[in-house]
Amino acid sequence: MYRTNTCGELTLKNLGQSVTLCGWLQRSRDLGGMTFIDLRDRYGVTQLVFNMDSRPDLCEQARKLGREYVLQVKGVVAERSSKNPKMPTGDIEILVDELSVLNAAKVPPFTIEDHSDGGDDLRMKYRYLDLRRNPVRRNLELRHRLAMLVRNYLSDLNFLEIETPCLIKSTPEGARDFVVPSRMNPGQFYALPQSPQQYKQLLMVGGMDRYFQLARCFRDEDLRADRQPEFTQIDCEMAFVEQEDVLQTFEGLMKHLLKEVKGVTYDAFPRITWNDAMKYYGSDKPDIRFGMRFVELDDVAKGKGFAVFDDAQLVVGICAEGCADYTRKQLDELTDFVKRPQIGAKGLVYIKCNADGTFKSSVDKFFTAEDLRAFAEKCQAKAGDLMLVLCGEAMKTRKQLSELRLEMGSRLGLRPSNVFAPLWVIDFPLLEWDEETQRYYAMHHPFTAPHPEDLPLLDQPERWGDIRANAYDIVLNGNEIGGGSIRIHNREVQNKMFHTLGFTDEQAQAQFGFLMGAFEYGAPPHAGLAFGFDRLCSILGEADSIRDFIAFPKNNAGRDMMAEAPSEISKEQLDELAIRLVPQEK
Ligand code: AMO
Repeated sequence: MYRTNTCGELTLKNLGQSVTLCGWLQRSRDLGGMTFIDLRDRYGVTQLVFNMDSRPDLCEQARKLGREYVLQVKGVVAERSSKNPKMPTGDIEILVDELSVLNAAKVPPFTIEDHSDGGDDLRMKYRYLDLRRNPVRRNLELRHRLAMLVRNYLSDLNFLEIETPCLIKSTPEGARDFVVPSRMNPGQFYALPQSPQQYKQLLMVGGMDRYFQLARCFRDEDLRADRQPEFTQIDCEMAFVEQEDVLQTFEGLMKHLLKEVKGVTYDAFPRITWNDAMKYYGSDKPDIRFGMRFVELDDVAKGKGFAVFDDAQLVVGICAEGCADYTRKQLDELTDFVKRPQIGAKGLVYIKCNADGTFKSSVDKFFTAEDLRAFAEKCQAKAGDLMLVLCGEAMKTRKQLSELRLEMGSRLGLRPSNVFAPLWVIDFPLLEWDEETQRYYAMHHPFTAPHPEDLPLLDQPERWGDIRANAYDIVLNGNEIGGGSIRIHNREVQNKMFHTLGFTDEQAQAQFGFLMGAFEYGAPPHAGLAFGFDRLCSILGEADSIRDFIAFPKNNAGRDMMAEAPSEISKEQLDELAIRLVPQEK
């Protein structure tokens, strides 16, 4: 037997017991007469003591051991003279009487401590060492716990976990596909699934009724803190349901997770239409941990001779409570913030509501105190508050103000990571116009059903932009953590949808024929949703990046730094796959 106990469980209750432990050498201290070693495994750290008087041989041996050596020790549990209340095992130590080195280790390239001295790249290259650190291990433990909670919850509701294939057919909608060449079919390629969307719909046609899967998805898109090229969805689909059934089911799942993992309980999650989300937050994933809702100011801002406002499609502002004492420097910082190319505003107007009832603004030349009071009334700004106003083309300005709102929320400490504010965003537009290709794209995917009231608009091309989708997103703390829709299960509506998206019948048949064919054999009404599992883990784990919750993530260039993938393949492999590389210009 390698071990009788783990390094995280021995306490005063075990005094006098003979135990065998295994683990890694975290740290050693040589005090002359005694050598102390902290032995670490997944469960914790236990202090080992080697005594020069009683066992000089062992003590000598212990002194020579390096960091991260793998050890097995036998000894007796003893009470410590100087206890460490911060450690569960801090009251005891092991008086070692047998030591075996199970494996030696090179000096690790960074310290395996909670706060490591290793930079991101180094830790990614040696991820297997990074995994030994407590914060990374805790993240993976949380991920496991969430996965188990999800599985049990959905299984109890009669959902079946069913695996769908990873080698599938490439479809051009959505993000770019990762493709895999087929040796047996030269010149032909599989795609890796961007999601199991079509298969889960086929499972509904196949009568499975309630499906879920912790599904690996692959998308060849630009990476950010909340995006990885391969990621995991809690992918779900249900038959014979309406939107309300789906929202209730998955709101139930979210509430369960928030209660189990965070100990918080919720009434019904708020719901907001996409239109209102854009109007009041400038975002389809509003962070509602704080208010600071947008106030449209056209009627008080226009017609006073300030051309910038007069010529704008929209003048819109927010009220930052208690910020009237912002200095010139702070206001300049905010102006620079909105003028950054990523945000793209031309400038920022501020109006301070001074404590003495007067106003000070960057547009004093154009507006009287009375005019500014009208702004304050609209924004419900009180003495001591600061109004921040942007203007320009409506949608662009809303998105810019959304960034400023989040920045102010962060500056004012209104976005604590241990507060969780979920909501549903519903009634998304069905279609999105793309200027470049001059056509509509499905905002969600081509199988999303139009809002029943808007079905007739499919026959009126000039109204296509107004059609609402029967689609919903679930948002947590300003992150889209899931999305789904009622699906089209009627062949005729699906045909119209493909027509709207600019597909000919032949193109639709070639790309989605198997799904369309299946719909002719009795497809039940169905709907579903997928959560981004990595995102959910990172938010509930109160971290910024999903990378921390993935055992072996890719870096921002989509590379696995440890395995050095992607990599070139041999000429033989290329030949076998009938692939000829075109030399790339450097
Ligand atoms: P959607 O494309 O909205 O919907 O994806 C669902 C959720 O997956 C997460 N997500 C990602 N997480 C990490 N890295 C990525 N690159 C990434 N892309 C998306 C998001 C998102 O909300 N088949 C539909 C769902 C359905 O209609 O049932 C789908 O895939 O949190």
